[in-house]
Amino acid sequence: MTSRLALLGGQPTVDAPMPHFVWPPLTEDTSKAVVEQLATSISIYDRSGVIAELEDVLAEYHGVRHALLTSSGTAALYSMYAAAGIGPSTEVIVPAYTFFATVTPLLHLGAIPVLADCDERGNLDAEDVAGRITERTSAIVVTHMWGMPANVAALRAVAEDHEVMLLEDGSHAHGASVGGKKVGTFGRAAAFSMNGPKPLSAGEGGFILTDDDDLYQRALLHGQYNKRCRSELPRKHPLYRYAVTGMGLKHRIHPLAARIALDQLDHLDEYLDGRERVAAHLRDQLDGVPGVVVLRTDRDVRSSWYGLILQYRGEELGDLPIERFHEALQAEGCCEVDRPGSTCPLNLLPLFQEPGPLLPEYEGKFSYAPGDFPRAEAFHQGILKLPVWHREEDMHLVEGYVEAFRKVTDNYRELVEQNDG
Ligand SMILES: Cc1ncc(COP(=O)(O)O)c(C=O)c1O
Repeated sequence: MTSRLALLGGQPTVDAPMPHFVWPPLTEDTSKAVVEQLATSISIYDRSGVIAELEDVLAEYHGVRHALLTSSGTAALYSMYAAAGIGPSTEVIVPAYTFFATVTPLLHLGAIPVLADCDERGNLDAEDVAGRITERTSAIVVTHMWGMPANVAALRAVAEDHEVMLLEDGSHAHGASVGGKKVGTFGRAAAFSMNGPKPLSAGEGGFILTDDDDLYQRALLHGQYNKRCRSELPRKHPLYRYAVTGMGLKHRIHPLAARIALDQLDHLDEYLDGRERVAAHLRDQLDGVPGVVVLRTDRDVRSSWYGLILQYRGEELGDLPIERFHEALQAEGCCEVDRPGSTCPLNLLPLFQEPGPLLPEYEGKFSYAPGDFPRAEAFHQGILKLPVWHREEDMHLVEGYVEAFRKVTDNYRELVEQNDG
């Protein structure tokens, strides 16, 4: 590659119009389904219509007894935690490296989040978790970061050994699996987001999965009050008399969002197969390109490819800072190459360093600081994220991005010299 880097005045490698990645894929069928839903009902108070339809399909897809739709992933997490009996002063071990909403609902239940470090893939590390269990620990929460399933066998073993619950945040990993078993079925319950870019998207929405009848019924009380509780809770349930009010919070999904997700779920496996092919191609093409290493997948693992994670090896590129490498790729037209920002080690966020000013009841209860989770911080600092396309017609973008990586790595010395000079 001889042409000059775009960052230094050359022509960008990728000149396709932006955006280069659009999700979810909306078709005429989606529009038709939404219009039909508009004419049918835009407010559903019980488990009927599109709500029941989507919950049935979600439960069947995952092979679980119950799926419960919610207005967001955050709401699903809140309802799941509350329904699992997590309350004041219980400790919950959570990933230091996750999107903050995995953890923030715990702060509205009075629980103490105990952060744990990650493994080499950015997922919760079972050994680190084991070292943080105390007699106050009630649960371990695992996120499957960027769609790559965590080491669930090791985490389940720790949870079983210490008799604590394992709960999942599957928000990055719809349809992902380990040994053919789907993410969302490894613990007592799981919560998922279905917001915009998620592998299964409703635009906005979420859901809970569980085989546990009691947890399901309590989750109804924590977010689906009145009609749904009155029609679904057994009359003999000890909490039936609260059916009208539930716990007072409403977390119902919008029927139009449910209709979009139902349409998406029909295609999820096809989309994931397409992503798998593109991820394999990207891995092959980037293998041997200096400065970047594609995160490996175990043989029995299927990722949802919410993102393809590249670990940056600046030492192979004359110690070129990752920031400069990223700038060079962006200048080449790779606008979708991302350095995740708000998804970061939680100890870097003010809410986890000093919760008191926003949540006075947490004053003095915990205080995390930069440096507390060296592996999570190094992982976060050292990765680039690519979207994983699923369609043949996007292959020109895939090839363009690969070419841009090659161009920048072939010409890295010009950037190093400029940096030094
Ligand atoms: C891992 C994870 N958990 C929870 C959430 C929160 O989901 P929602 O935005 O639907 O509330 C997100 C959203 O980005 C997420 O990535």
